[in-house]
Amino acid sequence: MAKPVVLIARVLLPAGRELLEAEAELREGGLDSTPEGLLELAPGVNAIVADPTVRVDGDLLDASGDGLRVVANFAVGTDNVDFDACGARGIPVTNTPDVLTNATAELALALTLAAARGTTAAEGDLREGRWTGWDPGAYLGLELSDATFAVVGAGRIGRRYAELVRPLAGHLLYVARSSKPELEEGLGAERAELTEALARADVVSLHVPASEETHRLIGAPELAAMLPHAIIVNTARGPILDADALATALEGGHLGGAGLDVYEGEPAVPEALLRAPRVTLLPHIGSATHRARDAMARTAAENVLAVLRGAEPPNRVS
Ligand code: NAP
Ligand code: GLV
Repeated sequence: MAKPVVLIARVLLPAGRELLEAEAELREGGLDSTPEGLLELAPGVNAIVADPTVRVDGDLLDASGDGLRVVANFAVGTDNVDFDACGARGIPVTNTPDVLTNATAELALALTLAAARGTTAAEGDLREGRWTGWDPGAYLGLELSDATFAVVGAGRIGRRYAELVRPLAGHLLYVARSSKPELEEGLGAERAELTEALARADVVSLHVPASEETHRLIGAPELAAMLPHAIIVNTARGPILDADALATALEGGHLGGAGLDVYEGEPAVPEALLRAPRVTLLPHIGSATHRARDAMARTAAENVLAVLRGAEPPNRVS
């Protein structure tokens, strides 16, 4: 019997690729795959493995044909997938939750520390010969011990971030659509509306998925509502935070600093952010640990194989 055909839209690490290869024929788009190239590779495939850079829309689904049985995203965020188009064609969508929670929360912590202490600018001065010696008034940052932290989006990664900052935090606030008893009872966190959290927090860390509801959740008015020394961290998705408004707030001295891992229209990064002071900018590396990425690859492959074997995939999101 012919093997099923899996389209890996870009690349899948060996931990997952080898699982798929044992049972399926693979077509691979490669790191430089394009939407047009994918349409050419798609006809006749039974599964698609996508990632956050791959738009999975009706065109790609139609090009794949009636044999397509699953879209497995190599990511926990699924905003690159058109759920309506998949639903209309009866195609399940899966993701890779949990296995990247620690890695991403740890990167949010790294960005928090970097933004609080302005390490990117300080290191830039040292590397470029601008450091002229120890200066008691230079490079003064925000001390995080006893600070008020606000976690916006109290899902898996937001909760892990809350656990990581709990030893530092004076007050721990969270913003969520429903109350989270485990955060309140386990970590002593207090639920707050977004406006209250922004007004009180020294550190705001974003952990909501990208959606219509969260688009520009943080824009100019929300940044203006923050304390002028406060910092904001975004490891969630670019469109949640208005990058131009953030750059303006940083330029104007209305915000203490920022740490970002994600951008709208990646891999482009807004010029205004590149020029802005007191911001650390990372290239979407939240889940980039060996452990997390291998586990993500395995999880994506296991979801594909479950569907191809006629079983329910373990991480179905729609
Ligand atoms: P999750 O467990 O689904 O958590 C997301 C949380 O956001 C849920 O608790 C959800 O609330 C909440 N939420 C949704 N809309 C909201 C709103 N309007 N206001 C307040 N809360 C809202 O997802 P996760 O595993 O933590 O991942 C979160 C996001 O991180 C992903 O979607 C992805 O975009 C991003 N991410 C980025 C990287 C990176 O490399 N930088 C890596 C991994 C993930 P409910 O509990 O009410 O549903
Ligand atoms: C990465 O950005 C993810 O959503 O897993």
